[in-house]
Amino acid sequence: MPGRVTVQTIRQMKGKQPVVAVTAYDSNGARHASEAGIDLILVGDSVGNAILGLPSTVAVTLEMILHHTSAVVRAQPHSLVVADLPFAEARYSMDHLLDSCRRLLQEARADAVKLEGGIGIADSVANLVLAGIPVLGHIGLLPQRINDLGRYRRFGRSSSEHDRLIADARALEEAGAFAIVAEMIEEGLAETIRDTISIPLIGIGSGDGCDGQIRVVTDLLGLGHGKVPSFAKAYADLGKATCEALTAYADDVRSSGPPGTTG
Ligand code: KIV
Repeated sequence: MPGRVTVQTIRQMKGKQPVVAVTAYDSNGARHASEAGIDLILVGDSVGNAILGLPSTVAVTLEMILHHTSAVVRAQPHSLVVADLPFAEARYSMDHLLDSCRRLLQEARADAVKLEGGIGIADSVANLVLAGIPVLGHIGLLPQRINDLGRYRRFGRSSSEHDRLIADARALEEAGAFAIVAEMIEEGLAETIRDTISIPLIGIGSGDGCDGQIRVVTDLLGLGHGKVPSFAKAYADLGKATCEALTAYADDVRSSGPPGTTG
């Protein structure tokens, strides 16, 4: 049985084997992901919309990510565990950022952190990496910016966005990120970025040409409530199966009659 997946394992998969990544938010989810041979588990701030009933990821706090990451780590998954740095955390002072990431590694025992942003946060990423904190980058659609963006959309159509995304990816690689998530980037551009950098580009809604894929687990399992992104193929309908199981249970309890009527 090979050892746990490390950031070096992920780096070395570039050009050899696709990186398979998925979100998980609790011990059961982490156990399932690990047993399925998933390479990388992201404790994403998508926990906000996927699990906690929040309208976006903006209201997700560091304490919430610590709580969910601890639960994931307790399952002792074989997969690499990456904790998402929540909204605005990367924009305080370097000391604050370092402390937040320190907590994710020391208190919740994540293996690495993910930060949304490109060139604008490259210096911070370099400092974290120097401090021994592995960083997964995230470019393209940055859901933490939804209040500014107004809507979730694809990135890289205009030439300025195209050039900016290539520069973002280069800056993150140079800063020492071990891989980069590419969310909702034009397919052709995602392939160009893949060929520009020597670390894995892990796509979500960015076509099949990336070095790997990441998905939100509730979308994969048919457990989503709100709108499911068009690129998210469901491999099961656990929402329907859960409702059916609970209905069967309710029927069983009710068919046994009022208390005291059965032997
Ligand atoms: O929070 C999350 O789940 C993410 C993925 C969409 C990459 O950032």
